[in-house]
Amino acid sequence: MKKIEDYVRSIPDFPEPGIIFRDVTSILQDADGLKLAIDSMQECLKDTEVDVIVGTESRGFMFGVPIAYNLHKPFVPVRKKGKLPCETVSRSYDLEYGSATIEMHRDSIKPGQKVAVIDDLIATGGTVEAAVKLIEELGGEVVKIVFLMELAGLKGREKLAGYDVASVIRYEGK
Ligand code: PRP
Ligand code: MG
Repeated sequence: MKKIEDYVRSIPDFPEPGIIFRDVTSILQDADGLKLAIDSMQECLKDTEVDVIVGTESRGFMFGVPIAYNLHKPFVPVRKKGKLPCETVSRSYDLEYGSATIEMHRDSIKPGQKVAVIDDLIATGGTVEAAVKLIEELGGEVVKIVFLMELAGLKGREKLAGYDVASVIRYEGK
């Protein structure tokens, strides 16, 4: 039987020389791979009481929504700047070159709600660190963070110290 790692296509030198791109489309386009990915990520939540699933645009949506659906919990998107129509909270974070801004609707999380954050990948950790800060600004409690893949060499976990972080696949490099 294939393992989840077997469904990840690795592309050397994309998007730039020296980077190995871990492609989730090769998981999603295989029915068994998709099921294994969702089931494996969901398994990480089995001992955690959760009120809301939050996913980060865009790859976090692909994994967050099916998990929320399976658990019969609400899903809240963290979106890239300028997409959400109602009152938002926003936060900027550094990328390798430049910066990005993400937003959540102000009414999307109620104070005291227990939140699990889902994304496909932790690299530097900047994206989910910013998402965690937004959730906390709204009064949510981040009880679990689940990634499908972790690039351990980039030490993104250090940005999430003190949180309960799980990853299904760990790559030692960058
Ligand atoms: C990718 C990936 C994670 C993030 C990881 O998203 O899906 O969200 O980068 O990097 P970090 O840990 O250094 O923040 P990207 O911003 O490329 O957008 P996408 O999900 O819309 O493809
Ligand atoms: Mg992303």
